Amino acid sequence: MHQIKLTTPTGDTDIDVGELLSVRLPGLDPSPILLVDENVLSRHNDLFSQYPCIEVPSGEGNKTLQTVEYIYRELVKLEVDRSSLLVGVGGGLTTDVAGFVASTYLREVRFGFISTTLLGQVDASIGGKNGVNLDGYKNMIGTIRQPSFVWCDLSLLKSLARKEYVSGIAEIIKYGAIRDVGFLQYLKDHMSGLLELDIGVLEKVVTTSATIKVDVVRKDEKESDLRKILNFGHTIGHAIEREKKVLHGEAVAIGMVMAAKLSQTMDLISGSDVDLISDLVSAAGLPAHMELDPAVIFQNIRKDKKKSGESIHFILLEGLGNAVVKSIPLSELKKILHDLC
Ligand SMILES: NC(=O)c1ccc[n+]([C@@H]2O[C@H](COP(=O)([O-])OP(=O)(O)OC[C@H]3O[C@@H](n4cnc5c(N)ncnc54)[C@H](O)[C@@H]3O)[C@@H](O)[C@H]2O)c1
Ligand SMILES: [Zn+2]
Repeated sequence: MHQIKLTTPTGDTDIDVGELLSVRLPGLDPSPILLVDENVLSRHNDLFSQYPCIEVPSGEGNKTLQTVEYIYRELVKLEVDRSSLLVGVGGGLTTDVAGFVASTYLREVRFGFISTTLLGQVDASIGGKNGVNLDGYKNMIGTIRQPSFVWCDLSLLKSLARKEYVSGIAEIIKYGAIRDVGFLQYLKDHMSGLLELDIGVLEKVVTTSATIKVDVVRKDEKESDLRKILNFGHTIGHAIEREKKVLHGEAVAIGMVMAAKLSQTMDLISGSDVDLISDLVSAAGLPAHMELDPAVIFQNIRKDKKKSGESIHFILLEGLGNAVVKSIPLSELKKILHDLC
């Protein structure tokens, strides 16, 4: 088992990465109330059903204030008070909702997460951003509050749908691209192990990814500066997600390859650097490119909340493992997208 500690002004989180972590639930004090993803509960009933469980419905369409309200009412029925402990058990949807519920119910109840998806373990469960969507707009309502603990239970990943698992690998490649060229090389050498859920590889990959996210969040919890680099591949990725029926990681994979190509156009990285990212994406079974209408992608980026005035903060690579934030005028971005798509 590996342990990582995140320390921020709003609180500290102990992150554990390893096998069979959920069996430690009986050791928690006080005994927890679980907010569990419905699919996780049905697949892992033996681990969780002996605790009071509130089921969190799966599907991004359920990441709403209505779901939050439903959970608040269940908490009232269970007589949850400020001395209780809530544990969100699921992927990013469940931990985002559970963190929001816990940080608002009775103005805050102590909470932790058991993260059950690859994306959740390397990204969503870490960093304290909690929240829900509003009228289809992603994460419009939320808080920044750190969970007391996150358990990345690698054993639970075995029941995850293949596509969901592979989608999580996009964020893992992202960490190497923005912060750690040695990690990119490791991924190149161990991609087959990662795809086969080899425990040794998984433990190394999840721990390294979580450590990179922790390091970035510790330095900039509120995303005033450095934390923006975690959005590498996401500006175009989100624009693709609005348009096409693809998973988040698939859209981010395409977005990362395009952002890498743009970095090359600006002489910040070489063609072989772009190839390394693109080859990793393909080796993971993720799409490296897609037929896209540049005008539609441009319109979607304009709507992105990271846009400020007539320019956009775009994350580029100035050498592999070194992300930089550049302000690009929208008029220039329009031309660039025409060349990239
Ligand atoms: N807070 C953050 O910093 C942050 C960062 C990235 C993403 N997110 C959010 O995370 C969400 C996406 O998270 P996700 O990719 O984990 O998706 P998810 O939570 O929707 O889970 C994906 C699917 O897998 C199922 N599932 C989860 N764990 C399982 C398991 N062990 N076995 C079988 N099925 C399982 C779920 O029921 C669901 O159908 C989005 O809402 C996104 O906004 C948050
Ligand atoms: Zn992402």
